[in-house]
Formats: sequence, structure tokens, C-alpha cells
Amino acid sequence: MVKVGIVGMGFIGQQHFQTWAEVDGAEVVAVADKQVEKVAAAAQAVGGNVGEAEPLDLSGVERFTDMEDMLAAGGFDLVDVCLPTVVHAAMTIKALDAGYHAICEKPMALTVDECDDMIATAGKNDKQLFVAHCIRFWPEYEVLAKMIKAGDFGRLVTMKFTRLSPSPFWSQDGWLNDAGKSGGALLDLHIHDADFIMSVMGMPKAVYSRAGHILPDGPKVDHVMTNYLYDDVAVLGEGGWAMPPDYPFEMAFEVLGEKGCLKFSTSNDPTLTFYPFDGDPVVPEFSAATGYQQELEYFSACVENNEVPTRVTAFDARESIRLVLAEKESIESGAAVEI
Ligand SMILES: NC(=O)c1ccc[n+]([C@@H]2O[C@H](COP(=O)([O-])OP(=O)(O)OC[C@H]3O[C@@H](n4cnc5c(N)ncnc54)[C@H](O)[C@@H]3O)[C@@H](O)[C@H]2O)c1
Repeated sequence: MVKVGIVGMGFIGQQHFQTWAEVDGAEVVAVADKQVEKVAAAAQAVGGNVGEAEPLDLSGVERFTDMEDMLAAGGFDLVDVCLPTVVHAAMTIKALDAGYHAICEKPMALTVDECDDMIATAGKNDKQLFVAHCIRFWPEYEVLAKMIKAGDFGRLVTMKFTRLSPSPFWSQDGWLNDAGKSGGALLDLHIHDADFIMSVMGMPKAVYSRAGHILPDGPKVDHVMTNYLYDDVAVLGEGGWAMPPDYPFEMAFEVLGEKGCLKFSTSNDPTLTFYPFDGDPVVPEFSAATGYQQELEYFSACVENNEVPTRVTAFDARESIRLVLAEKESIESGAAVEI
């Protein structure tokens, strides 16, 4: 049994708490959050971009308002870091130095140097470090990755990835809207697609990004469109987190090859359809589990079997930070940036 301590019981920490309950062979035994109401026996719920949420029943686990107290109390193998991005590096390093394996939410950190420190600390302590890039585990994206690998599209022609959300209003003290703490829409939201593109296509030669800004007091990048420059396929990623309040959260892709087009959108029913050039549309089979469940199952199996993760390495997560920071540079300079 892999025992887990979660630190940060906001939106994603609560999602993870509920998801761990679905993971065979793993159990949450402790949680920590500096806001006492988030670690109450009936904890205040945070709905995030999935809407209303029920209060959590935390009565069965040890509860702390300080991560260091949780680390000192122990009784678990793995610390699941669900904290604001600005403290990912420092807190993950503390967990690794205290002798635990660590999962860190995406984005891994705000800078490549911080990522390197995290990777070095995991190595020094001989502990596993996972970064929770859930989209690599999201069922419809798994279908796409498998089809690309199997050559099911024939020659790839175009790929378009979209992620749109109303403003992230729920974060504790509004930290998400402070680019110095979250990295803004680029690092917080759009990195999901940048990382996925990199995972299936490799690092692009260059990126060319344009961005817009809506939130009056927010970061200067609320909506980005990036061309990822590859030799023979046109790839576009669009991410925006300042859509109007009633705009439904949407993630989507459309991948066209010489044999057909695979289209996915959380706004469609069915969400995923392959339109071949020579036949009727088909709905590919995919897992009913969420990406959160599949990533936590995978990470916990790696810990159980003492295996280094290969589906997303800490170095991959570091490279996705490097990629998105190149997009930021392109927005600022107005020119394409070589990677
Ligand atoms: N994978 C995904 O789909 C996904 C979705 C949302 C958020 N995230 C990531 O998860 C991280 C957290 O985001 P969120 O939306 O849950 O934020 P949030 O503000 O809802 O939650 C953060 C929690 O951390 C607590 N906290 C802050 N500093 C602390 C400290 N020093 N010690 C203990 N507790 C502390 C806060 O009180 C808060 O409850 C971010 O890095 C974000 O990018 C990932």
C-alpha cells in the first residue's frame, strides 16, 4: 500500500484527495493546508473550473496546517504537492530532503533553474519525482498519442490544440492572477498543451507566439496563440483563461493527416470522433477514467515497484517549462524564438 500525504488542499488538492480514493493500492493518510478551514473535518470545498463542489470529509486522515509538521509526523511514502506554483520548488525540495517521494503539480516551477534543483534533489536523495502533467494521461489524448505513434494518420498535416477557461477566480488570495506566483495563463493553463505537443512531436525548432490581455489587474498574457515550428506539420496551440464568466471550460484538439481527422472537444458529444477520408466516422474506444486517476495510478505503481516514471519524466516537465518560457520570450520580442 502506497501511503500519501497531500499538501495544499485547494482546488487541485481536493481533486487529488477524491481521486486517490479510486486508486487501488494507495491511501491518503495525511493532508496539510495553511488555511485551517481547508483541513477541517468537513473541509470547505473549492470548485475551481469544474463548478460547484461538495464539502470534503477529511475526518479519517491526519490534518496539519504546516507542511513541515506533516513531514515530521510521517507515516507515508509520497508527498503530493498541490501548492501554488511559486512554492513548488521549495516545498518539493523539502519533501524530497525529508526522505519522501514527491508528486508536484504542473507547472513544475517558475524557472528552469528551479526545475534543475528539484531534479538534483530527487537524485541526491534517491527518491522519485513525478510532475502531474495530467493531459498525458487524459483518455482522449492517450488515443491521439497512440494513433500518432502507430502511424494511423499517415502523413500528419495540421494539429490544433485549444484550452479556454473563464478567469480562475477561486485561488487562495488570488495568487493565480499574479504572474509572479503562477506564471500567468502561459505556465498555468497553456502548458498542458505545450507539454502534450512536445510529448508527441518532440521539441519544436522554434515557437512564434502572439498574446492578448483582458483582465485589468491580471498578468499581461491572458490568451496566447503559438505556432510550434516543425519541418513538415503545422501545429497551433491556443490557451486563454479570461473567457467570459459563463463560457464553458473547453479543451479540444483537431489533428488532420492524409488518412483522416481526429477531433476532440469537451463541448462535443461524443467528445472524440475520427473522420476518415475513406469511410464513416468512428468513435475510438477510450478509458472511462479521468487523467487525474490514470496519472495517480501510474505514479503510485512506480513508487510501489520502485520504477522511474517514463510516461512523464521530471526532465520532460523541466523541458515544458523551457518551451513555454520561449513562448513568453516570443510574445515579448514579437519574433520567433529558436529552442
Ligand atoms: N493538473 C491540473 O489540471 C491542475 C488544475 C488546477 C491547478 N493545478 C495546479 O495545482 C497547483 C495549485 O492550484 P490550485 O488551483 O489548487 O490553487 P488553490 O489556491 O485552490 O490551492 C492552493 C492551496 O495551497 C494552500 N497553501 C498555500 N501556501 C501554503 C503553504 N505554504 N503551506 C500549506 N498550504 C499552503 C492554500 O491555502 C490553498 O488551499 C498550481 O500549481 C496549479 O497550476 C493543476
